[in-house]
Amino acid sequence: DMPPMIDPFGRAINYLRVSVTDRCDFRCVYCMSEDMTFLPKKDLLTLEELDRLCSAFIAKGVRKLRFTGGEPLVRRDIMTLFRSISRHLDSGRLDELTVTTNGSQLARYAAELRDCGVKRINVSLDTLDPAAFKAITRWGDFAKVMDGIDKAQAAGLAVKINAVAIKGMTENEAVGLIEWAHGRGMDLTFIEVMPMGDVTGHRVDQYLPLSVLRAQLLDTYTLDDIPYNTGGPARYVRVRETGGRLGFITPMTHNFCESCNRVRVTCTGTLYMCLGQEDAADLRAPLRASEGNDLLNAAIDRAITRKPKGHDFVIDRRTKQPAVSRHMSVTGG
Ligand code: GTP
Ligand code: 5AD
Ligand code: SF4
Repeated sequence: DMPPMIDPFGRAINYLRVSVTDRCDFRCVYCMSEDMTFLPKKDLLTLEELDRLCSAFIAKGVRKLRFTGGEPLVRRDIMTLFRSISRHLDSGRLDELTVTTNGSQLARYAAELRDCGVKRINVSLDTLDPAAFKAITRWGDFAKVMDGIDKAQAAGLAVKINAVAIKGMTENEAVGLIEWAHGRGMDLTFIEVMPMGDVTGHRVDQYLPLSVLRAQLLDTYTLDDIPYNTGGPARYVRVRETGGRLGFITPMTHNFCESCNRVRVTCTGTLYMCLGQEDAADLRAPLRASEGNDLLNAAIDRAITRKPKGHDFVIDRRTKQPAVSRHMSVTGG
């Protein structure tokens, strides 16, 4: 096996998140503005280029690969990429191929994903109230997502639900979400809203620290710490009353940067060494400069030497502007 890439802080980089498109069929309020302009097609990496890029990272020791977006499953012919990357699962070079999705296309793709070796998927869903769902996603179709989750479970995929914690909503929803997810045998993680792109005063007011939510859940549940670890940033507990797993992703209140194992690439081949920093490296030019991978490999190695120690998520209270100005939809969470 390849030894993993090691960053300047001694962290092994074995998890790559690839945003395969900046487009999405939803417009979640914390992720996009309603009138997003999308990238011209010529700037996007082709599916063949995405395959080359992923394969180069796998050759450098990446063992976990996650496709994100935008909404990854709205990219045309995306199953071609899943199918071709699955060869790395077959050869044992890759441990996990997976996707984070809004669920809208799952009814169509669940069985194919399973056939490509995907075992576990993450579905973003913040509420079970159709009206609140509409308010958050703006363009989302709640019934379609529910159907997608049904089809994914029927296809044998393990489903984890990701819920962004929103003040004024999640406090009332959390128990319902837990009962629903655990009742269906699904893990659930709550995520603290990160200030990225177009943060308005509104968004600042919607931030709910998960320490607050967790304390509130203790009125209803007993939460037992468990060592479960997926290689992602969530810290998990077992809810004694439901028997299910509940995760907390707390970039704001409890930084997990010291154990960071990942980098992310956008659909234009820009490598971000950290979700919460602006520094980036262009991999598209070296990818397109020649058919061999020497330039690409050198660019990746150089970039890893610049991986920062941690994120820079702050909101300037006076200007209400975030330190990170790109939208979440660019780097896919
Ligand atoms: P698992 O494999 O199930 O552990 O998934 P994951 O948590 O790695 O991936 P997922 O796409 O479900 O990520 C959930 C959210 O966690 C993302 O949307 C981000 O909001 C957040 N997240 C993931 N990685 C990072 C990271 O490196 N830094 C920060 N600040 N947040 C992250
Ligand atoms: N802060 C935290 N999580 C976010 N997501 C999108 N935008 C944000 C944000 N600003 C979540 C989505 C999805 C995952 C990919 O990222 O809800 O679960
Ligand atoms: Fe890693 Fe950056 Fe995320 Fe921190 S914010 S965990 S350093 S990617």
